[in-house]
Amino acid sequence: MSLVRIDDIQVAYTDAGVGRPVVLIHGYPFNRSLWNEQVAVLSSSYRVITPDLRGFGETDSSQGPATMSRMADDVARLMDHLGIAQAVIGGLSMGGYVALAFYKQFPSRVRALVLADTRASADTEEAKQTRAQQAQKALSEGMAGIADAMLPKLLTPETVSKRPEVVKRVRDMMLKTKPEGAAAALLGMAEREDQTSLLPAITSPTLILVGAEDAITPVGDSEKMHNAIAGSRLVVIENAGHVSNLERTDEFNQNLVDFLRNAGA
Ligand code: MLT
Repeated sequence: MSLVRIDDIQVAYTDAGVGRPVVLIHGYPFNRSLWNEQVAVLSSSYRVITPDLRGFGETDSSQGPATMSRMADDVARLMDHLGIAQAVIGGLSMGGYVALAFYKQFPSRVRALVLADTRASADTEEAKQTRAQQAQKALSEGMAGIADAMLPKLLTPETVSKRPEVVKRVRDMMLKTKPEGAAAALLGMAEREDQTSLLPAITSPTLILVGAEDAITPVGDSEKMHNAIAGSRLVVIENAGHVSNLERTDEFNQNLVDFLRNAGA
């Protein structure tokens, strides 16, 4: 693990392998260990950077909503620190929101884009209110209740009943998350921009991955992104829910490796 100071916080990250850079951005309420299996495979051919986002993992929390654009800015500053001008930018779920915000802010720094189990649209008013309630709940009760409520939405029923090691892995990540970091990200996600109008302007090679049983960002959200991003590739991973990289690691990795090779990344 390495650390870098970015404005008010210390950001923790892993920098593994040598080659063209690939930045992988975790979702909510996880941390960079979400990507361990992807780092293991990709780092034999690529330089893989996995940050802990503002308020998550070993990165400090900050005051106020942790907006997607602020997190995208943190990623850009981390790349500056590492001497990386351009990289493949990939994100799962909230990490995808950050990846789209990154594209909007720094399009020339994106060599290719990977959008996993995510969406371009903003929250509805109802979803914003739920985020505010969840933020209060995290701060007053800690992460256990949030983890219990989220688990059945994150994983397929089959994974929940038959793969205790995956359930434990996902649950442990959630329980390790700092309540103040989770609350700041929830408020940040509620504020995020609708990026639908950005999609037709994306010219980087783009891979869209989604679990066929994703209950949080369903396949339809990925189809909308695929239809709007010219030349994008959409892969629907069977027997996977929202955390498709952990539930179907081999399929996820194979598609990622093939895409990176074909994109010349
Ligand atoms: C995530 O997995 O990052 C979140 O569930 C995304 C969201 O709540 O919109």
